[in-house]
Amino acid sequence: MTINGAPRIELIDSHCHLDLPHFDEDRPQVVARAQEAGVIAMVTQGVDLPSSRQAIDLAEQYAAVYAAVGVHPNDSADFQSEMLEQLRALAAHPKVVAIGEIGLDDYWKTVPMDHQIRVLQLQLDLAAELGLPVILHDREAHEPMMAELRDWVRTRLPGSPLAKRPFVGVLHSFSGNLDMAHEAYELGFILGLAGPVTFKNARDLHALVPQLDPTRLMIETDAPYLSPHPHRGKRNEPARVRLVAEKLAELWGLSFEEVCQLTTKTAQTFFNLP
Ligand code: NI
Repeated sequence: MTINGAPRIELIDSHCHLDLPHFDEDRPQVVARAQEAGVIAMVTQGVDLPSSRQAIDLAEQYAAVYAAVGVHPNDSADFQSEMLEQLRALAAHPKVVAIGEIGLDDYWKTVPMDHQIRVLQLQLDLAAELGLPVILHDREAHEPMMAELRDWVRTRLPGSPLAKRPFVGVLHSFSGNLDMAHEAYELGFILGLAGPVTFKNARDLHALVPQLDPTRLMIETDAPYLSPHPHRGKRNEPARVRLVAEKLAELWGLSFEEVCQLTTKTAQTFFNLP
């Protein structure tokens, strides 16, 4: 699609939290600014049952907003198996495009790791059954995370509806090394990158990104968190996913337009967006 002969920029924010109170004052303007910046879709995440319901409410209100439903590791203390039935019911909504945000967090240590792992396993199995990709949070938990994913892909995924999809999940705001990225690719996962890649002192990410596969990467904001340079520390919003794409273009030696095309196509495939 072109306007005045110039290619129209199309970006997708694959991970944000639009339900949070940070946006209560100006949510319609935040969504409008994103669309003005070329963001054609935003995937807002659930971290527990109430926020998963709110994600769906937002997806019903705004055409460009899609929902992920799930229970975040740091919100999983009171998770019980009957909550899985409620997640299954929520996931039947036509604008639910993933199970997330789920995962493991060994940084905050608010929930014992064995409990986090059990909650992750139950939600991975739900995603496999429903044929929805997973959005994974991994903070300081690379080893247990890869062990769980390896085991799930080998023993639980085969024959499931999810195994037929091009990608089975994303490691959001990826913080691993190149070996981990390669293993993630082999297991059918892709990577997500957010504001931290734009930080001046993000030397590890700056060294890693040129070695990553540009066709297996989605961009994201994690708004209201992780605001990119030069807005670091301020409230983030989906319009700023553009700054992540600009930094990737610089690191990959591609044009901004190429990065938009590649990452948008990957996100459309990943979420099976219209
Ligand atoms: Ni998040």
